[in-house]
Amino acid sequence: MKNNRQQILDFYDGKWHPLVAEYYGHSDYMNYGYWTAETKNQAEACENLIGKLLSMIPDKNGRILDVACGRGASTRHLLRHYQPSNIVAINISEKQLKRASELAPGCTFLLRDATQLEFPSSSFDNIICVEAAFHFDTRDSFYREAFRVLKPGGYLVTADILGPRSWQRKVPANALQSPGEIADHLARAGFENVRVIDATEECWKRFIRHARAWPHQERQAGRMDLATYVRASLFTILFSSLFNFGVRYYLLTSAQKP
Ligand SMILES: C[S@@+](CC[C@H](N)C(=O)[O-])C[C@H]1O[C@@H](n2cnc3c(N)ncnc32)[C@H](O)[C@@H]1O
Repeated sequence: MKNNRQQILDFYDGKWHPLVAEYYGHSDYMNYGYWTAETKNQAEACENLIGKLLSMIPDKNGRILDVACGRGASTRHLLRHYQPSNIVAINISEKQLKRASELAPGCTFLLRDATQLEFPSSSFDNIICVEAAFHFDTRDSFYREAFRVLKPGGYLVTADILGPRSWQRKVPANALQSPGEIADHLARAGFENVRVIDATEECWKRFIRHARAWPHQERQAGRMDLATYVRASLFTILFSSLFNFGVRYYLLTSAQKP
């Protein structure tokens, strides 16, 4: 049986279906995004999400660490605020890191696990982690490491999902039930000024609605032929039903090292 790490790599390193890449506007993002009434498409929602998380960091100076950077689209967004020399990003996937270094040139990309950051203590001003903490073995080990490598006064901001128990078969310790529990775990790692925002509607529910409506919108706009429309409709209904099942909360968190 595959271990947790191998399952994660198989999922994220695999070639995405061309329709998924199209849906994401070839942005290389791998998150559900933050949707407002004005948001036009998935790529824009993904940019919004990083913007929203960064707005929870009061002082965007010094060095920032992007934990679980995916293919580097979140890291590329950081370049709007930071010099490349002040951006470090990590992932457990060499394949994704290769793409990331093309997407955000000049930033430092390292093959590291979020639960063993290996940086000296107090080496980052802030840390961002987008839709990945529920994968880590464990989320608490990551919180402790993030706390260690942050400078005093620095912030950890995350987008995190409390999914169904089936997501956490390999790491049962991550199966938290409520926003309050997440706040407790952050506080136990030593953080203060902990904020946990329930963004289930803005991130998860609107993503599901948009994904289901997307083939119809594309067809009406004349951008999708009939055969692709049928395939895309089936795919989005299947995908969204599969992933929708049992998701309880989509949370944005911020927490400060005293
Ligand atoms: C949903 S993707 C998010 C990617 C990116 N942040 C984005 O918004 O596009 C989750 C990422 O977590 C990474 N990941 C999973 N477990 C990890 C771990 N223990 N340490 C570092 N990265 C990890 C995966 O390889 C994948 O790139």
